[in-house]
Amino acid sequence: MLHFARWAGLAGMLLAAGVLLFRRLVWRPVTSRSEMPDAVEKRFAARSRPLLVGAWVASTGATLVALLIEPGYAQVDAVRFGLVVLPLGAVLATETRSPDHGPTAALLEAASVAGLVLSAALTGHVRGSSPLVPNLAAAAIHVGGAAAWGGGLVTLLVAALPSARALSGGRRVALLAPVVARFSNIAVVAVAVAVVVASGVYSAWVEVRTLGGLTDSTYGLVLLAKLGALVPILALGAVNNRWMTRRMVRAAASGSSEATAIVMLRRLVAWEVALLGILVGLTAFLLSLSPPGRSL
Ligand code: HEM
Repeated sequence: MLHFARWAGLAGMLLAAGVLLFRRLVWRPVTSRSEMPDAVEKRFAARSRPLLVGAWVASTGATLVALLIEPGYAQVDAVRFGLVVLPLGAVLATETRSPDHGPTAALLEAASVAGLVLSAALTGHVRGSSPLVPNLAAAAIHVGGAAAWGGGLVTLLVAALPSARALSGGRRVALLAPVVARFSNIAVVAVAVAVVVASGVYSAWVEVRTLGGLTDSTYGLVLLAKLGALVPILALGAVNNRWMTRRMVRAAASGSSEATAIVMLRRLVAWEVALLGILVGLTAFLLSLSPPGRSL
């Protein structure tokens, strides 16, 4: 029960923060520059909002379960509950009354992302680690990068790509190419992947310490399995970044309608998302195991 709640909670927190970051850093900068038909904006909102609500429900429920049944961390779990429920709840409540993209909304969204990231970081062994401040900072950076990357991929797949179906072939590519390029290249993935890998390696060193710890403990083996799941995800990401995105950008520049490229991109992103779900499941398992570095 606690294991499933951890998985649902981590997935929910990464997704909620990822949707907020994708909307602010990828979707709105691109769509505000182009003449965006209302139908596309409406479809994007109609698809991204249920993602946000679902992620809020999952992370709130999981944090509540942890608060009720996890022994020993009641105070931390109470703080995590507040960090998840309040800021994102306020974003959802204000958006229901009137959609606002101004500075107040940006501040509220930033507070939500910070709350979700900190709450997810406080799920792990970092809670009992020393020195707490650098270890917690590394965990928060790890989760922030994972949310921008993993949560962003889900938003691309479930909200951004389908919302452009309201447009005809050539116009669809013209809208999607800059969205995919911005997500894949500059704003998110290039930074997020480096940040996730560097902070993950730091946390792995804190929790494992020796090569023997990596191969002789269940914790080490599950961590290796997590790295094993990461390899195909990185390979798929590289294919998308190197070939699919460039193909779409070229098609957009020449005004052609590259329907096959969009279909292939959607399939590859769906595989990336499925593998990320497994990777987050392995991470949730990792959190319930005893790290070998602690017994040294
Ligand atoms: C080189 C790659 C990576 C390494 C070495 C790594 C390693 C780690 C380690 C050691 C932890 C701490 C677990 C604990 O508390 O015992 C962790 C936590 C976590 N990882 Fe990773 N990870 C990597 C990639 C990823 C990726 C790609 C994602 C998802 C997109 C991810 C998501 C998470 C999450 C959500 C947590 C839980 C938060 C926390 O307690 O820090 N990791 N990772």
